[in-house]
Amino acid sequence: MKTITLGQNSSAVTPLCIGTWAWGDKLFWNYGNNYGADQLQAAFTAALEVGITFFDTAEIYGFGLSEEFLGQFLKKTDRQVQIATKYGPFPWRFLGQSVADALTDSLKRLQLERVALYQVHWPFTFFMSQETLMNALADEVKRGRIEAVGVSNYSAQQMREAHQILAARGVPLAVNQVRYSLLTRQIETNGILKTARELGVTILAYSPLAQGLLTGKYTADSANNLKDGRRIDSRFSQEGLQKIEPVISLLRQLGEKHGRTPAQVALNWLIAQGNVIPIAGAKTAEQVRQNAGALGWKLDDDQIRQLEEVSRSYR
Ligand SMILES: NC(=O)c1ccc[n+]([C@@H]2O[C@H](COP(=O)([O-])OP(=O)(O)OC[C@H]3O[C@@H](n4cnc5c(N)ncnc54)[C@H](OP(=O)(O)O)[C@@H]3O)[C@@H](O)[C@H]2O)c1
Repeated sequence: MKTITLGQNSSAVTPLCIGTWAWGDKLFWNYGNNYGADQLQAAFTAALEVGITFFDTAEIYGFGLSEEFLGQFLKKTDRQVQIATKYGPFPWRFLGQSVADALTDSLKRLQLERVALYQVHWPFTFFMSQETLMNALADEVKRGRIEAVGVSNYSAQQMREAHQILAARGVPLAVNQVRYSLLTRQIETNGILKTARELGVTILAYSPLAQGLLTGKYTADSANNLKDGRRIDSRFSQEGLQKIEPVISLLRQLGEKHGRTPAQVALNWLIAQGNVIPIAGAKTAEQVRQNAGALGWKLDDDQIRQLEEVSRSYR
């Protein structure tokens, strides 16, 4: 599979990333209710089988369980896998040493000596300045425990600041991981997409399927049966589902032309924006296989334009 470089001069990864927030997370995703460890192992194996070797996790996912699962699965394969994890800038972490300690703990759970990408989960700078944080991350790059540094949920201005501090240490800012899908297109208008391009920062698009909405499988009836955090999300209510119907309908229509599913079309559209790697969350092997079918083909220019038009109100 053709790989993509994260930012400038750093790890090469596959053009689709597998999201593992749901791996062990009971709080939002209700792990253990209708999926468990066996499904996750199968999802991991399926990803490698279809050639996807890039996984996104965070120390907070499942309070460490997501990283632990990945550690266990990685032990059973010889394949080269790229792991992106995240540091939580929590209030009790106010010294640069906290970054080193958190990374040590993540690496232990992952059973790795280094990660391809280490990202700051949120732009909280009240307890630790951006200066201290970025310098601690640059130290870890020099130490060899991080191949690339990223941020997440940073505004255009915050991204610029992080980029500048790192640049002074000779370390590029590789990614900004932000919410981006056909139903959440704000990064196109708030300067994030433009600034990322200007700075050579890759966008990792999280919730690229709008947490399952863009698969088209949620209908006004089925939505009420949700047993996880999405049941209080108004987008999954009857009204919410009716509102997105024109987008789903176009995804289906275009999918039929290409022999693809709505989810595959939605992910393909994101990739077509350029400089964007979707992180598609998956709980099963089947979901991984289906999402991997977003690769290896292209929507034509007119189809990309039609999707842009039908989702313009989400900018
Ligand atoms: N940096 C951050 O602040 C942040 C925030 C959120 C997420 N993330 C990252 O982004 C990743 C993805 O985001 P996300 O999980 O919120 O949303 P998502 O990728 O848009 O949706 C994932 C959910 O959609 C359903 N799904 C996925 N593929 C499917 C398929 N082919 N067919 C049918 N259903 C499918 C599954 O749930 P059901 O089967 O239950 O419907 C799955 O759990 C996360 O795992 C995490 O790594 C980062």
